[in-house]
Amino acid sequence: MSRRTLIAGNWKMHTTGAEAQKLAGDILSSCKNIHDRDVLLAPPFTALAAASEKLGDSPVILAGQNVCWEEQGAFTGEISPLMLKDQGATAAIVGHSERRQIFGESDEMINNRLVGGLKHGLMIVLCIGETLSEREGGQTFTVLEKQVREGLARVSAEDMARVVIAYEPVWAIGTGKTATTEQAQEAHGFIRKLIEELYEKGVAEQLRILYGGSVKPANVDDLMSQPDIDGALVGGAALDGESFGRIINYQ
Ligand code: 13P
Repeated sequence: MSRRTLIAGNWKMHTTGAEAQKLAGDILSSCKNIHDRDVLLAPPFTALAAASEKLGDSPVILAGQNVCWEEQGAFTGEISPLMLKDQGATAAIVGHSERRQIFGESDEMINNRLVGGLKHGLMIVLCIGETLSEREGGQTFTVLEKQVREGLARVSAEDMARVVIAYEPVWAIGTGKTATTEQAQEAHGFIRKLIEELYEKGVAEQLRILYGGSVKPANVDDLMSQPDIDGALVGGAALDGESFGRIINYQ
């Protein structure tokens, strides 16, 4: 079964409104003639409206970098699914390793975010990935399995059509150290098999699994040649219109 590629840019804590407009504009020009793959941009919450204005009615998907499970209330510092939609977003990232590691988010909390976002019609990118010590300790697949099982608790097979999984080994994020294509393919194959066990073959076959961690113009072609790698979640290289454009236009 062929899955539509998704190239996603996570801008993390970068860009003011004006910078986001400029970057969104640069990226729009690089993907003008591309019709066979999807592009997603995740600016910081404060730049969503500016990016949305620039993207206009283009097919580029706009995403929040996180989402709360509640619609409103006493949740200082959080953004609800309704607020994301109000700013023009139709998707959200949850479970990024920086949320897990720096801000202590648990699998249970991440699952609440994912379920809350799905309930309001958002597409959700669930990030998972092992740390270096977990990899070196032979724990990679145990960690991935826990993050997948707990992250997807209460999610129906039908709702899985709006879920994307991003495998981002923590040791490869922002380090310039990419997983080898074999390591990435091995993890992606494992995740797809697990989804088949948790749901059914059809759900596993349609699921898009992105690789993230130091994706650059120089390594994207190799990564994308792997059968279970359906796209990329890009950090640093997504902040430059030219390099992200090159990644979108991978061969
Ligand atoms: P880098 O591409 O900078 O390694 O970041 C990856 C990432 O965390 C995307 O979510």
